[in-house]
Amino acid sequence: MFQAAAKTLSVFSVYRGVLFSLRHYCKNIPIKLRVSEALSGAELGANVKVQGWVRSVRPQKKNLFLHVNDGSSLQSLQVVGRAELDDPLLTFGSAVEVSGVLKKSTHQKQPFELEADQIRVVGTCNPIDFPFKIKERHSLEYIRQFPHLRCRTNVFGSLLRVRSEATAAIHSYFKNNGFVQIHTPIITSNDCEGAGEIFSVQSSGPQDVDDGNFFSVPTFLTVSGQLHLEVVSGAFSRVYTFGQSFRADNSQTRRHLAEFFMVEAEISFTQSLEDLIKVIEDMFRSATEHVLAHSAEDVDLFHQRVTPGHRATVDAMLKKSIPVITYTEAIDILKRSSENFDFPTDWGCDLKTEHEKYVVKHCGNLPVFVTDYPYDLKPFYARDNQEHSERTVAAVDLLVPGVGELCGGSLREERLDLLRARLEDAGLADTYSWYLDLRRFGSVPHGGFGLGFDRYLQCILGVDNIKDVIPFPRFVQSCLL
Ligand code: 4AD
Repeated sequence: MFQAAAKTLSVFSVYRGVLFSLRHYCKNIPIKLRVSEALSGAELGANVKVQGWVRSVRPQKKNLFLHVNDGSSLQSLQVVGRAELDDPLLTFGSAVEVSGVLKKSTHQKQPFELEADQIRVVGTCNPIDFPFKIKERHSLEYIRQFPHLRCRTNVFGSLLRVRSEATAAIHSYFKNNGFVQIHTPIITSNDCEGAGEIFSVQSSGPQDVDDGNFFSVPTFLTVSGQLHLEVVSGAFSRVYTFGQSFRADNSQTRRHLAEFFMVEAEISFTQSLEDLIKVIEDMFRSATEHVLAHSAEDVDLFHQRVTPGHRATVDAMLKKSIPVITYTEAIDILKRSSENFDFPTDWGCDLKTEHEKYVVKHCGNLPVFVTDYPYDLKPFYARDNQEHSERTVAAVDLLVPGVGELCGGSLREERLDLLRARLEDAGLADTYSWYLDLRRFGSVPHGGFGLGFDRYLQCILGVDNIKDVIPFPRFVQSCLL
């Protein structure tokens, strides 16, 4: 028994010894931190390691000062080291790994700094060839020329973080409000909007697969996930999707892309357009408030440096509820104006960007919902407002300052006879027989909308050109990378 006790004791002391040396060993292994964690003082006093890209280098007589950024925040981490740590390869844009002790800083600008005892250049960067220069504020137009490098600038870094936060905000709005996310397809055999601005899909696979026609039917890149959402809304009363849409718009405007991101929702058992308007407004408000609160520094960079004065517009947008006018009232506003528009403003004409911008200005340069568009202006699925004297449909667009149309939606024609007649008139009844089936089996009043996510970012940040709010813009005559 004595022997067994001694054995247990010796195993125990070996175990303690291992633990002790492990702890001792661990003490000397630097803890890997992201820049944002270091900036919040995590692991203060500990031996830490930070990896990132150099945003500034300032060698002085006794000390070397660096700023290192890893994309986790707009602010970079100040690194202070002995002058001997300087290296000619430590240049603006180079990638580094820095180890040392995280300390309280004496500088007012940052509460913490890294006192380096080792700086390793992981990837060099020739500052002469690098298109961005230290301390220079390059314009959005300039950095747009370098889609493979622009994420390394402060301004595009902020944009990407805001984009990510806004995506999360939109998902959480839908989650908190009982919507189910549906992954609608990118390749489709229907043209939802019927506008004809579609990209065809072709395989380059073996010719023996249906003579190169992979799917055996003509297929396209989706212009909208709406019809697929409508399928699922026959069993789920609240659904949404958030993904890429494609339009072969032959336009080089500041608000059109060939590939853009759209948030779409479909709601069953709607009573009227107000049900949709409420969801659009709630989502807009909730996502925007979330982004302003959670990406304050990044949003401020835009509102202070890129689009001064835009913050006041955003605050004003959130203050009041969004007014609703009809298309007919919008036409009246345009008719009464003394502006010389390029396009006609007669009842029945499409509202062009110039008209949308004028209506927004007329409404105090604030968002406005426009409802009840002429029947002939909207796609086949929009619900006929039979009771109105002019032939209109229950459609709604949200117009916002600087951008124009941000959102388009409608109640859907749920009445089988009316929908069939409209599809027959357009010669589409056979193609959309499955869509008619949705009205045959348990059809309910329903509606939905699509919000252009890239335009949404333009709207809240005040960015003039849509190509500056998407990582890799695709538009007519341009598909870089
Ligand atoms: O108004 P749209 O064409 O509506 C639809 O596609 C509906 N099927 C959506 C639905 O009800 N589920 O497009 C919706 C929004 C527009 O308001 C606009 O913000 C954006 O998508 N959009 C574009 N954004 C960038 N580039 C383009 N080429 C765009 N086309 C539309």
